[in-house]
Amino acid sequence: MTATTESTVAGLIADISDVGADPVRGGFTRPIHSAADHDLRAWFVEQAERRSLDVETDRNGIVWAWWNPGRLPIRDAVVTGSHLDSVPGGGAYDGPLGVATALVAVDHLVSRGVAPHRPLSIAVFPEEEGSRYGLACLGSQLLTGDVDPDRVRGLTDSDGVTFAELASRNGLDPHHIGPDPTRLASVGSFVELHVEQGRGLIDLERPIAIGNSIIGHGRWMLSFRGQGNHAGTTLMHDRSDPMVAAASTVSSVRALARRTTGARATVGRLDAVPGGTNVIASRVDVWLDVRHPSDEVVATLVASIMDAARIAAADEDCRVTLTEASVSPTVAFDVDLRDRLRRVLPDAPVLDTGAGHDAGVLGEHLPTSMLFVRNPTGISHAPEEHVEGADAETGAVALADVLADLLVR
Ligand code: GLV
Ligand code: MN
Ligand code: MN
Repeated sequence: MTATTESTVAGLIADISDVGADPVRGGFTRPIHSAADHDLRAWFVEQAERRSLDVETDRNGIVWAWWNPGRLPIRDAVVTGSHLDSVPGGGAYDGPLGVATALVAVDHLVSRGVAPHRPLSIAVFPEEEGSRYGLACLGSQLLTGDVDPDRVRGLTDSDGVTFAELASRNGLDPHHIGPDPTRLASVGSFVELHVEQGRGLIDLERPIAIGNSIIGHGRWMLSFRGQGNHAGTTLMHDRSDPMVAAASTVSSVRALARRTTGARATVGRLDAVPGGTNVIASRVDVWLDVRHPSDEVVATLVASIMDAARIAAADEDCRVTLTEASVSPTVAFDVDLRDRLRRVLPDAPVLDTGAGHDAGVLGEHLPTSMLFVRNPTGISHAPEEHVEGADAETGAVALADVLADLLVR
């Protein structure tokens, strides 16, 4: 096999810079099975085929592109990759950087003449952000069996389309989604490269870090119900307005989280039903994201938020219910793999992250690690997320170094 391209990471990211560009929010909106998501998958398949990788899509919609020049049996495989879906109005690098870097890392392995002792795959995981179905890392959680496929089949998006319907429309048999123990057992290690989503590397003045852990995080929905009514004819003391209860709860979320050292709690989304300017809402769903290195603290903080929500609801003569969408415990990456990466990349610091990743899901099942690439703005899940071209190339070389080490020893 010869190197078939002279791609750079920046060039690959530029190739897809108009896909899913969001003229309203700015940045990119690339939900699972949108036209943008399909274009990105087609782009990935084309890039993989240019490199003579063998591409397959598994029963959970995960795309695997295999570099296996020796036609070795698929076992003890080294897997890298990331995701291509985005949050609404997200940045260009969260997900695509790990995919583009993996493609360039394969180019490096080929041009270095690496003869692997085990197969390598680039995996692209669907619905990592959970922006369409509310469940983060949906593809990797189906693969590992961490989520019940029945639950996933029944999830609905904001248009009321179930995951089962969406899967069928897109050529994925919804009856066959779910745990894939044989595939999982064939993976020996997973290394996900990702844009750093905070300021760790800026402060350390370094381009690359090795991941240590992902702090525990979860998503909940607080649903406030009151009485929908007319904005003009309903007197102020005669209302049961769930928006008021929701607003008070949003303030409590901030106050309670600020009192909890190391906690992050966010309400980034409110859905008002029916959602008219001249209509008192009948229901408001408040989406809550809570994170902390201690899973116990996460649970305690959510319970305190729910207490505050109950009081706010009672004050407004409303009701509130709490639904857990997903909880991911704190994950410490495999220590032996982390130390192996440290030997390969002795100058790279080791960092924890507050962001969730498919690596966190796989890390509960097999030796997993991460590489982070500096983001000079420190901003992520927003259009300002950035990676300098030189750092991206450094990331591709670092990933190739790590993969070469894992493939030949
Ligand atoms: C994903 O990026 C998350 O941390 O929610
Ligand atoms: Mn990501
Ligand atoms: Mn993200």
